Amino acid sequence: MEFFQERVHVTSREEIAPGIFVLRFRSPAIARQCRPGQFVNIRSDASFVPLLRRPFSISDVDKDEIEMLFNVVGKGTQILSRKIAGDEVDLIGPLGRPFDCSRTATHAMLVGGGLGVAPFPFLTRALIAEGHRITSFVGARTADQVISRNIKNCHVATDDGTKGFHGTVVELLRCFLEKESVDNVQIYGCGPAAMMRALSNLAHEKKVRCVVSLEGDMACGIGICQGCPVERREGEKKYSLVCTEGPVFDCEEIVIR
Ligand SMILES: Cc1cc2nc3c(=O)[nH]c(=O)nc-3n(C[C@H](O)[C@H](O)[C@H](O)COP(=O)(O)OP(=O)(O)OC[C@H]3O[C@@H](n4cnc5c(N)ncnc54)[C@H](O)[C@@H]3O)c2cc1C
Ligand code: FES
Repeated sequence: MEFFQERVHVTSREEIAPGIFVLRFRSPAIARQCRPGQFVNIRSDASFVPLLRRPFSISDVDKDEIEMLFNVVGKGTQILSRKIAGDEVDLIGPLGRPFDCSRTATHAMLVGGGLGVAPFPFLTRALIAEGHRITSFVGARTADQVISRNIKNCHVATDDGTKGFHGTVVELLRCFLEKESVDNVQIYGCGPAAMMRALSNLAHEKKVRCVVSLEGDMACGIGICQGCPVERREGEKKYSLVCTEGPVFDCEEIVIR
């Protein structure tokens, strides 16, 4: 795994929905090397508060620039949300195992909950380049938190019914899978653990291959601290590390708690 540590400049910041931001950085080495599903580990501030770096998916790449999509949940994301063009941050990346975009199935179904949609713009472009048909499913708590920019053929679900299907995005996907042929379908999921568990169960029931990107807690991001284990279903090895062996896993490999 080749990765870089770069001090990079913010090139733009945009608040695309209340509390949800897109930050772009000029980061030539990482932009050249990264693939969809990989992430960067960011030191949000030159001070040591917060102490640990924070992991974020690479949402998209454009020439020398990488893009990150995030919502404010705590200190680190609050600091990042206040960055402006010209500010410096320290990045390590690209990290982790990417999505496999080779054409093993022709119909890609992308299923994202909340900020789980973050890697989808980059993934969508890569899947289209490989000739896949794309159907996307995006879930959020309420209408103003739905993020569907640069996501193709998008079906929306909201928990409160203020936009699209009233219910979870996994329930919406179930309705589709009951009408559509599942031949040649592969599901790509990203979102909170409870959603990934429900998605994994549905894919198993419908016998559809499903890969998910996990968003659990992380510290070093490079396989040293052993702080990001995920239980494996079988085999001699009991755990995998999300940061180096993931964050993308085949659902049949792991137990999502
Ligand atoms: C591989 C990977 C990729 C990620 N990509 C993105 C992304 O593209 N966009 C994005 O918005 N977030 C992403 N995350 C989650 C992101 O890293 C956290 O939201 C961030 O670290 C929070 O930092 P903080 O200092 O603001 O909050 P903290 O102060 O660390 O936490 C604030 C609150 O949020 C909770 N929390 C923190 N991290 C998570 C998490 N991962 N899942 C659930 N609850 C959490 C804490 O328990 C606490 O209650 C990703 C996580 C991983 C592991
Ligand atoms: S975060 Fe340190 S080993 Fe994965």
